[in-house]
Amino acid sequence: MKQAPMTGRIELRQVTKVYRRGTDQEVRALDAVDVKIDPGSSVAVTGPSGAGKSTMLHLIGAMDRPDSGEVEVDGERLELMRDRQLDDYRRRIGFVFQRFHLLPALTALDNVLAPVITDRRRAKAARARATDLLRLVGLRDRAASLPSQLSGGQMQRVAIARALIGAPRLLLADEPTGNLDSDTGKEILELLLSLCESENMTLVMVTHNDEVAAACQRTIVLRDGRITSDTRGSGG
Ligand SMILES: Nc1ncnc2c1ncn2[C@@H]1O[C@H](COP(=O)(O)OP(=O)(O)OP(=O)(O)O)[C@@H](O)[C@H]1O
Ligand SMILES: [Mg+2]
Repeated sequence: MKQAPMTGRIELRQVTKVYRRGTDQEVRALDAVDVKIDPGSSVAVTGPSGAGKSTMLHLIGAMDRPDSGEVEVDGERLELMRDRQLDDYRRRIGFVFQRFHLLPALTALDNVLAPVITDRRRAKAARARATDLLRLVGLRDRAASLPSQLSGGQMQRVAIARALIGAPRLLLADEPTGNLDSDTGKEILELLLSLCESENMTLVMVTHNDEVAAACQRTIVLRDGRITSDTRGSGG
């Protein structure tokens, strides 16, 4: 199947996600959300715990489907895609999960390589890129470490390197600097924002940190599944 090159333009129209529907614990995690995100822009998503931030990221990343509404990326409606198209789509984006989801039996380097399936001819180039990404996130000397041998912040950095291995045009990151000290967090943030500029990558990032949000071009605040504020700052 021929694919148009990805640009990372996102549009949510009246997107609703309800958990435990019909029970007394029903939660409207997202409630008729409308939002448009320009390709190559950096967007921070903030708001209190339980506001629907991860849910929004999961829907844009096709990790989950909305109950109603439309999720469109580059003109393609994710909620209408078949499983194989969704697999293709997920391979083309980068996702940093709130709980890193590293594979425990693989080294840091192999975790970074895990999303890219390569034949032997390309394996060498992929390893070189993975090594390069580990260096970029400050883990050059931990390539052979297993996740169990890494600190939380180091695992988070492996997860960021893994999300970037396919040179995605769209990066969805759930608190990517949440477990990092402020200096390391700042470096990672600068790396992500510079990729927005140099690769025209779209960055949608959940954060609880006001400074991190301020560095993005735009901040969306969610509360009880609704957007309560949407501001364009000077960042990015
Ligand atoms: N799989 C699920 N089953 C049931 N309820 C869920 C599920 N996932 C999320 N929820 C509920 O949906 C709401 C939004 O959850 P979400 O994970 O999107 O919040 P969040 O803004 O990311 O919060 P946090 O800052 O704590 O990560 C919460 O009330 C949560 O309990
Ligand atoms: Mg969350």
